[in-house]
Amino acid sequence: MLNIILFGAPGCGKGTQAVRLAEHYDLYHISTGEVIRSEIKRGTELGKSMEGYISRGELAPDSIVVEMVRDFMRTHSDKGAIFDGFPRTTAQAEIFDTMLGEIDQKVDIMVYMDVPEEELVRRILLRGKDSGRKDDSSEDVIRNRIEVYRQQTAIVAEHYTKQGKYVAINGLGTMDEVFARLIEAIDAKK
Ligand code: AP5
Ligand code: MG
Repeated sequence: MLNIILFGAPGCGKGTQAVRLAEHYDLYHISTGEVIRSEIKRGTELGKSMEGYISRGELAPDSIVVEMVRDFMRTHSDKGAIFDGFPRTTAQAEIFDTMLGEIDQKVDIMVYMDVPEEELVRRILLRGKDSGRKDDSSEDVIRNRIEVYRQQTAIVAEHYTKQGKYVAINGLGTMDEVFARLIEAIDAKK
C-alpha cells in the first residue's frame, strides 16, 4: 500500500505527474480540483456552490473537500492512491490522517515539486489557451491562486515534515526529468 501526496503550487505539474505515477506504481489518482470541476460541469447543486471559489482562485471549504475524498475512499481503498491537490490546509491534513487511520492506512510520502512563480504563471497561461478552465484565463486569478497557496497551503508541508514524510524535488526541466526525480524520491522512501 502506497499513499502519495503530490504537493506544490498551481501549475507545478501535479496533474501531469500524477497520471504517470499512478500508472507506474499501479495506484488510483484523485485530483480534488478535477472532482470539483466535474461537479460544476454536471451542474449539480454542489457544483453550483463551488463555482465562485474556483473562478476567484480561492480554496473551497474544508468540509466539502474532505467529504469528496471520504466518498472516493469508500470505493478506492483496496490499493494506494496519488492525492493531487489534497490536503491543502492543515485542517484537511489532520482529518485526512484520521480518515486513513480508520482504515489502517497512512500517508507514506508527500512530494513537493518546486517551481518558481514566473514559470508557474507561464505554464498556466499557456494551458489556459485551450483548457477551458475558468481559473486559467486571467493572470490576476492565476496570481491569486499562487498567493492563496502561499498563505494557506504551503504550511501543510510542516505537518508532514514533522511526521518525517516530506520530500522536495526540483519541478523544473522536462516532464521526463521531473518524473525521474519523483520516482527516485518515492523509491527511496518506500
Ligand atoms: P486544482 O485543480 O488542484 O489546481 P491547481 O492546484 O491550481 O493546479 P493545476 O491543476 O492548475 O496545476 P498542476 O499542478 O496540476 O499542474 P499541471 O500538471 O496541470 O485546484 C483548482 C481549484 O479547486 C483550487 O483553486 C480550489 O478552488 C479548488 N480546490 C482543489 N482542491 C482543493 C482542496 N483540497 N481544498 C480546497 N479547494 C480545493 O501542469 C500545468 C501546465 O504545465 C500544463 O499545461 C502542463 O502540460 C504543463 N507542464 C507540466 N509539467 C511541465 C514541465 N515539466 N515543463 C513544462 N510544462 C509543464
Ligand atoms: Mg491539476
